[in-house]
Amino acid sequence: MKIGIFDSGLGGLTVVQAMTKVIKGAEIFYVADTKNAPYGEKTSEQILEYSLTITHYLIKTYQIDALILACNTATSSAITHLRERFPSLIIIGTEPGIKPAIEQTSSGNIGVLATPATLKGDKYQALANTLSSTKDVSLFEQACPGLVEQIEKGESHSMETKNLLEKWLIPMRECQVDTIVLGCTHYPLVSSVIEEIMQSNIKLIHTGDAIAKHLLLRSRSKGHDNVGALKVHLYTTGEIRESLIDDILGNYEILEKIDLPSLS
Ligand code: DGL
Repeated sequence: MKIGIFDSGLGGLTVVQAMTKVIKGAEIFYVADTKNAPYGEKTSEQILEYSLTITHYLIKTYQIDALILACNTATSSAITHLRERFPSLIIIGTEPGIKPAIEQTSSGNIGVLATPATLKGDKYQALANTLSSTKDVSLFEQACPGLVEQIEKGESHSMETKNLLEKWLIPMRECQVDTIVLGCTHYPLVSSVIEEIMQSNIKLIHTGDAIAKHLLLRSRSKGHDNVGALKVHLYTTGEIRESLIDDILGNYEILEKIDLPSLS
């Protein structure tokens, strides 16, 4: 099985990391679109164009069987269009884990951290409205502009990052938030800073494991036997910090810089 995965940068590697525990006998082709990062502060039209360009590249160059949008922001702007355009491809997106958060909260107060584009998107609004009416819960939504850039710069644990997170999280702590949805695949990379600020038994919800299991289920139904080695190939459209890739993933075959052909 050939699996195409993309994100604006390093964040989607948290999803690849989860996959390495579940998926076997496959090749992963991962595109980090750092040239266009951060996606979360772009328009929906721009994000759709980036997503289409990458998907065309992955289909043409590697004949992928499955596509994973390891990015909440791209899922919000592009997944509906991609599914219409490529109906025979397995396409799995990433959505903020509000459902597991509702199941796990004791205080009923849930924080949602995501990019500005994800929180503004119709997809998130519909998900939050439907799910939050199923139980008596309050959602504390917080857009985190600037956080993805800090993580990409290798500054996840710097004072500046801590200050940003404190500004967003202290009000949540004061409102007895006990569960936080990490609605961006970059944010698991600052989990320890979030835990330190929240100072209690905070539950952090991320979706990498659920995506990996979902892919396994879908691929089995298409005859994938899940036996053998998993190879990971990495491509980047701009600058990327190799040392951070090593920290997140460890093992991969190649890292290559690519120029994506424009669709227009
Ligand atoms: N990691 C991405 C997400 O899950 C995108 C972050 C960004 O580029 O703003 O939303």
